[in-house]
Amino acid sequence: MGRFYDYYEDRIFPHVLELAMKNFGPQREPTLAEARGDVLEIGFGTGLNLPHYPPGVQKLATVDPMDALEEKVARRIAAAPFPVERHKLPADGELPFDTGRFDTVTVTWTLCTIPDVGAALEEMRRVLKPEGRLLFIEHGRSDDPKIARWQDRLNPIQNVIGCGCNLNRAIGPIVESAGFQIQRIEQLIEGPRIFATLYRGAALPKA
Ligand SMILES: C[S@@+](CC[C@H](N)C(=O)[O-])C[C@H]1O[C@@H](n2cnc3c(N)ncnc32)[C@H](O)[C@@H]1O
Repeated sequence: MGRFYDYYEDRIFPHVLELAMKNFGPQREPTLAEARGDVLEIGFGTGLNLPHYPPGVQKLATVDPMDALEEKVARRIAAAPFPVERHKLPADGELPFDTGRFDTVTVTWTLCTIPDVGAALEEMRRVLKPEGRLLFIEHGRSDDPKIARWQDRLNPIQNVIGCGCNLNRAIGPIVESAGFQIQRIEQLIEGPRIFATLYRGAALPKA
């Protein structure tokens, strides 16, 4: 999209993200409360989930295409009470992990941005143990048709400002159609509904 946009994406956006995502701090602990064992976090960002994992987490692998705010992220990793192993997302989107490895996969405010979100969720399902669980919190499409129409209208602008973020993804149906059975899902309104209609839940891989 041009040199200014590359600069925005690499140098400015990570700071915007860090500030914006800090607002959601209180929602992290309840989302991650059931994480346990060997955990994979998709879309690690700047590591804001790290202090909110419960004691049952033994180790954490993370995946993200971006390396941002490295010093801050390294400090957060050093303070974590479990080992953290970071991975850069491969270009083909295939997760660099064995099938059925993880007890828990977590994804927070990231399904909005992944270009082929269906394929990414299928990969998350592949690397989960059959009895493992996907824990998520995402912003998404409102069930109020008037708000959803505004989300559709504003989506092209959000795509640019948010470096690929979409306002109008229907989170529950997207998770289900990638081969998960939703165990629970709740809707939370944490600000203007166009941007902050949140869906928090847990899903099991279908056999
Ligand atoms: C809005 S941020 C959320 C960061 C973090 N999960 C949090 O809760 O603060 C979205 C993150 O998704 C990452 N991302 C974008 N495309 C991705 C992909 N295909 N797979 C995994 N992560 C991706 C971005 O680099 C960014 O770190």
